[in-house]
Amino acid sequence: MKEENNNYNVPLHVAIIMDGNGRWAVNKGKKRQAGHKQGSKTLETICKQAYDLGIRYITTYAFSTENWSRPKEEVDNLMNLLRHYLKTSLKNAIKDNMRVRVIGDKTGLDDDIIESINKLEEGSKNNTGLQLQIALNYGGRDEIVRMTQKILSDYENNKIEINDINIDMISKYMDTADIPDPDLLIRTSGEMRLSNFLLWQIAYTEFYFVEKHWPDFNIEDLKDAIAYYNKTDRRYGGV
Ligand code: FPP
Repeated sequence: MKEENNNYNVPLHVAIIMDGNGRWAVNKGKKRQAGHKQGSKTLETICKQAYDLGIRYITTYAFSTENWSRPKEEVDNLMNLLRHYLKTSLKNAIKDNMRVRVIGDKTGLDDDIIESINKLEEGSKNNTGLQLQIALNYGGRDEIVRMTQKILSDYENNKIEINDINIDMISKYMDTADIPDPDLLIRTSGEMRLSNFLLWQIAYTEFYFVEKHWPDFNIEDLKDAIAYYNKTDRRYGGV
């Protein structure tokens, strides 16, 4: 879906893989956690600027189901950063009219984090500005497993029939149920892979890769990504 803005097509939904935070910090002689902290600030800035440019949804990868295999100290630091971010986000979300939701398997998170997520989602649910999805304990394959479990459970409880299963129906069982699929995916830091992000939703998404590490990503880079998006010819399998 594209939205006209001064004769310019702005992607309605942008997915972001915020990569390179650790490398950014190490290159500067700092600890990796300094990179994640700076990365979370970059996300806040980009969210505000993205809305002003016409973007209405951002879905970003904060912690994957595979990230638990990182050294315990890094996992603890990332969780503490997320704790802090989730707690302070409600004030910012209210100020900026932003709705924040978390996608991923919340059951795998600590109780206090789940409580902060619930407060943030509940407190921002009527906001009509940017819709921000934070992927936390998220994996695309894990989301497909959970979707399958939910469908089978509804089938067992006679809520659905086999013939009800189609693409729209499956989309409604995903974590992103009422959110349009991403138009553009941005990955920073030069790697060209999906890393298990939004596997179902990304079927017709345009990809934009940039060498810069995420903490250095700025509005000019976002505008470059939108300019690239404008050059693409989205045919959705047609001619
Ligand atoms: C990828 O590798 C990035 C992550 C695992 C997490 C990104 C998290 C943040 C930017 C901050 C937390 C987010 C919120 C919403 C508060 P890497 O950047 O750790 O390191 P690399 O340089 O080794 O790729």
